Amino acid sequence: MQSKNHHPFTEGLLSWYRQHARELPWRQTQDPYAIWLSEIVLQQTRVAQGLPYYLKLLEVFPTVKSLADSDESVLFRHWQGLGYYSRARNLHKTAKLVVSKYQGNFPTTYDSLIQLPGVGPYTAAAIASFAFGEAKPVVDGNVFRILARYFGIETDILHSSARKEFTEVAQELIPPDQAAEFNQAIMDFGSLQCSPAPLCASCPLSVTCFAFQEKRVQDFPVKQKKVKQRNRYFNYFIIEQGNKILVRERKEKDIWSGLWEFYLVESQQEEDLENLLEIDENLSLFLQGSSVQSLKSPKIHLLSHQKIHCRAWHIQVPDNLDIKVQEGFQWMRPVDFEKLGKSVLLLNLITDNLQMQIFNDSMPR
Ligand code: ADE
Repeated sequence: MQSKNHHPFTEGLLSWYRQHARELPWRQTQDPYAIWLSEIVLQQTRVAQGLPYYLKLLEVFPTVKSLADSDESVLFRHWQGLGYYSRARNLHKTAKLVVSKYQGNFPTTYDSLIQLPGVGPYTAAAIASFAFGEAKPVVDGNVFRILARYFGIETDILHSSARKEFTEVAQELIPPDQAAEFNQAIMDFGSLQCSPAPLCASCPLSVTCFAFQEKRVQDFPVKQKKVKQRNRYFNYFIIEQGNKILVRERKEKDIWSGLWEFYLVESQQEEDLENLLEIDENLSLFLQGSSVQSLKSPKIHLLSHQKIHCRAWHIQVPDNLDIKVQEGFQWMRPVDFEKLGKSVLLLNLITDNLQMQIFNDSMPR
């Protein structure tokens, strides 16, 4: 019997499922233990690979009590090949808990199921709906994809708010009287029809599917590309002469444009001073008779897409050394430098070296 008043999505999905449902052994039962077992196995692997493990585990441990009473090593032996043994350990722990706290009867609601170790929102919804008919939707990557396409949801599925939003949509769609069918249907629909490479030509939902109608199937789900983090190596030199330091304003089209900094040599990897002198030939101008000391510095400075590895040195140039500085640089008193805009990295570098004489009275703390 079809219920009335279902959303067209739900109607189409359930109708599709009546024709395409996969026959899976955990669908022949309403035993929450067996369903839980299947879901934990399926957290670990795909349906085809998980099937024999599920059947074997259920044969060896037919009840939650038999699993709780077993030696962990027996479970591990049958878990072999699934990998990630902490899941098996959790399985055993949860079985013991169900026996000790619930007299071997699984909790019967979503809210109590989700308290069990290893049971997250998806697994709790699966057990609650399959075993007890509670209308809680399963929401995973498949469901994100299906709903994003069908409804044209532009939310980035990697965004922290996505789960809540998609769960709310799914909650509106799941029929209270056919919760188990709905969840099973959406799982199969995601695997067989609305897969990452979807079969839209044969899809009965395509008529009302936003992405299909707009010819934008490839646009959904929206998943922001991970921008690769760029590693940069900044070697700062606090070059001092006659109570002034050599500074410049960053003018390039790069991070921190308009902010002020010390003499900087950027390298492609971490380099020692000797190599830095080769990379930047001008640097050696400052080193005639000067003393060089390595400084404390913030080792890593993180920006949204850059990781700045920082090292720093102090060069004390003798007063009598006459150096013509490169364009853009100037000698400045620290009190004046203090008033200028600087990156957080540079401020941290200064803070790390406030004990230096030159900063002693004049720089911020
Ligand atoms: N993936 C996770 N749980 C599943 C289930 N019960 N049936 C099919 N695929 C699944």
